[in-house]
Amino acid sequence: MILSAKAKLAGVMGWPVAHSLSPRLHGFWLERYRIDGAYLPLPVAPERFERALRGLADAGFRGVNLTVPHKQPGLGVCHEVEPLAKRIGAVNTVVFEDGRLEGRNTDAFGFLENLRQGAPAWDAAAGPTLVLGAGGAARAVAAALLDAGAPEVRLSNRTAARAEALARALGARVVPVPWESRADALDGLALLVNTTSLGMAGQPELDLDLDPLPAAALVTDIVYAPLETPLLARARARGNPAVDGLGMLLHQARPGFEAWFGVAPEVTAELRAFVLAR
Ligand code: ATR
Repeated sequence: MILSAKAKLAGVMGWPVAHSLSPRLHGFWLERYRIDGAYLPLPVAPERFERALRGLADAGFRGVNLTVPHKQPGLGVCHEVEPLAKRIGAVNTVVFEDGRLEGRNTDAFGFLENLRQGAPAWDAAAGPTLVLGAGGAARAVAAALLDAGAPEVRLSNRTAARAEALARALGARVVPVPWESRADALDGLALLVNTTSLGMAGQPELDLDLDPLPAAALVTDIVYAPLETPLLARARARGNPAVDGLGMLLHQARPGFEAWFGVAPEVTAELRAFVLAR
């Protein structure tokens, strides 16, 4: 793609950033929608984060995605941060508007849209959810479920104090469950979500007896390497519907792309295959 002098510019800022799938994902959409624009990998060390972010706004960029380790610091650098991003405690999408930096978080949106696309029959209000893990991803997932009307979000984490802190921050519908009791917490679930790194390539498997899980409960994993984690494979083998985690990454990218480039992009099977073929 040859850019014009009016090309719209965006990118992903992280440290490191070489592993990020975002340039490939946004690059696919830029070509698909024939947009005069570019989306660049932006390796920025933590000590240069604020200067780099403001510098890109000054240089006419439309905005950026933030990834590790800049998502939390982004809260303090943006002029405005939307309430959801404050609640999640992280900014993953920044829109530059007349020199002002607007911080958003689209991970909750990405999580819900992935389930809506992959399991249209699922409804957040249908019953309790168990979220495994209490890191940044768990925070976004729990906030998304509460906003979508989930009656109860059970939260279980190896380090109990993190689950308890998250439950306190998010309110009464979030119930911490001891890690040892995680299998008991499967009882009556409408949704089971793994946000831990267990099951990721090179990591141990998630140790969880699925016997108490209702047959109709939806199972999803935010791990997408491998795409079919051992948890998803075991869930499908016993007849549960299951949705893999790649879609969360693809869907969380939509609001940023639309804000920067002016087109609402679609998540298609072709996009999935393209991103996976790296
Ligand atoms: P992220 O922000 O991407 O969610 P994170 O904050 O590093 O990442 O969280 C990783 C999650 O995986 C945590 O909930 C972590 O549990 P701890 O809070 O106890 O560290 C969980 N996790 C990682 N390895 C684990 C293991 N071997 N057993 C159980 N949980 C594990």
